[in-house]
Amino acid sequence: MIKKALVLVSALAMLVSGTLFPASAQDEPTPAQIAAAAAETRQSVFKLLLFNLVPIAGMARGAPFDAAVAEKNARNIAALAPMIPDLFSAADTRDFDVETEALDVIWENPTEFAAKAQALMEAAGTFADVAAGGDRAATLGAFRALGGGCGNCHDDFRVDND
Ligand code: HEC
Repeated sequence: MIKKALVLVSALAMLVSGTLFPASAQDEPTPAQIAAAAAETRQSVFKLLLFNLVPIAGMARGAPFDAAVAEKNARNIAALAPMIPDLFSAADTRDFDVETEALDVIWENPTEFAAKAQALMEAAGTFADVAAGGDRAATLGAFRALGGGCGNCHDDFRVDND
């Protein structure tokens, strides 16, 4: 409760000081600043995806199996995946000098990009359903499809760095 109240208070403080919503045109962020912030925001979502995938990948590599964690993290991935196309359609950063590994083809072929996000969401949902059954072998058997959901998109839409 206290934590929630604190978050609310600091959000209100940001509102009042204009960090969240600049009060005047002068304070409006520049297009370059908006692009940089958009790149950071989408990268945060990918960091969250990785955060949720790492414990599952660990189990696939022999760490103790925990069905509840596997299911929960996969559900988190399924919830985050639909945000990916939204984040990219919200801000086309192609013309800006932002730090990014996103390829231009994302905005040239948004349908295909969205389909990859959809495929990840479905793979994560399937994985979570299998994990809910509690069977280690079956769950880990579904891991390849889940991890593939990340790699299939990176192959086509991200700078090749792995
Ligand atoms: C629909 C396409 C797509 C899917 C699906 C996808 N990614 Fe990515 N990922 C990208 C793109 C594009 C970038 C580059 C973003 C940027 O630099 O602006 C990226 C970047 C990343 C990064 C680097 C983030 C940073 O710190 O800058 C990580 C980590 C990552 N993805 C992990 C994952 C994991 C884990 C999954 C699966 C659970 C996943 N991604 C699924 C497209 C995707």
